[in-house]
Amino acid sequence: MKAKIIYFSQQGGTQTIAEQIGVGIRTAGDDCDLAALKDTDPSNPGDFDLLGIGCPVFFFKEPFNVSDFMDALPRVDGKYAFVFITHGATPAGTLASMWKRLEDKGYHVLGAHNSYSDSHQIPIYPYPTHTTGHPDEQDRAEARAFGQKMAEISRRISAGETNLIPEPIAAPEGWWTEQSIALDRESLAETFPKFSIDPDRCTECLICEEVCPVDGIGVQEEQPRIQNPCIFCFHCVMQCPEVAIQADWESLMHLVPEIFERYFNNLDAAEKRGEFRRITAREDIHIDDPIFKQRERERAARDGKE
Ligand SMILES: Cc1cc2nc3c(=O)[nH]c(=O)nc-3n(C[C@H](O)[C@H](O)[C@H](O)COP(=O)(O)O)c2cc1C
Ligand code: SF4
Ligand code: SF4
Repeated sequence: MKAKIIYFSQQGGTQTIAEQIGVGIRTAGDDCDLAALKDTDPSNPGDFDLLGIGCPVFFFKEPFNVSDFMDALPRVDGKYAFVFITHGATPAGTLASMWKRLEDKGYHVLGAHNSYSDSHQIPIYPYPTHTTGHPDEQDRAEARAFGQKMAEISRRISAGETNLIPEPIAAPEGWWTEQSIALDRESLAETFPKFSIDPDRCTECLICEEVCPVDGIGVQEEQPRIQNPCIFCFHCVMQCPEVAIQADWESLMHLVPEIFERYFNNLDAAEKRGEFRRITAREDIHIDDPIFKQRERERAARDGKE
């Protein structure tokens, strides 16, 4: 049996989990290829019997480039699949949504896996943050066990065993899932301040163009283009070595205390259920010192202005 894992990962957490799931599949005795989503043509995703798709959770759902990719896959008959995510405390209905997208394409979905993972990419959030330290060795071991299980189940089904295909998982009811439906591309475009590139800082290194997952930036075009289209991932902002991509982040800072209160409540509950292991202490998370301010300080220090 041949497996293929296609993943989207910007900060490395999902890639780590994808690699460990691959190790588990190979431990079960099967071949497993890994490919980045951006390098894969959805209309021709490759040759496999078992497909795994993984991504981070953005805005309580799979990122728009991932949902677009899944919707563009060809229909299949009789192939197996699984889904996996990494997230920072509020996955909401992401796995249920990804599961359904694959089922709609004809896949028999065999399972879903989720892992907490670090986040250093939301400019108005602090760093370190509530999931800093994840995925740790236990998360990696759980991913390997999941991969092994997916390979073994698909092989047993192929050998004729029945009743091994699970019922689809359901999205949890509540505020987060409602938000995930409300936050479409248009509402996110209204929520976030527009980016601009500071011409005095930009060195035209083109890193932002290279890292944008949807080719949304054209720095050297006659009419420089930024955020068109956009999945609101903030990767360009975080990767620009000159801190040249700017926005009015201060205008969103009033939202942070309430959001973090919700995260902390979620994590307290998950910790009590034994589903979360706190690695970074709450007192080490400074919500009044967001990443966008930290980056400005680092830039000033680099340029000898501090
Ligand atoms: C733009 C953005 C939105 C995010 N939204 C959520 C979210 O709704 N729920 C959540 O649990 N984590 C959220 N996160 C955290 C990421 O899901 C988490 O850091 C993920 O593990 C990153 O994966 P990667 O390391 O593979 O890029 C968000 C991160 C970013 C950058
Ligand atoms: S990454 Fe920053 S410095 Fe480099 S081209 Fe983009 S905006 Fe300019
Ligand atoms: S323009 Fe920036 S924020 Fe938008 S998708 Fe590209 S990298 Fe992400």
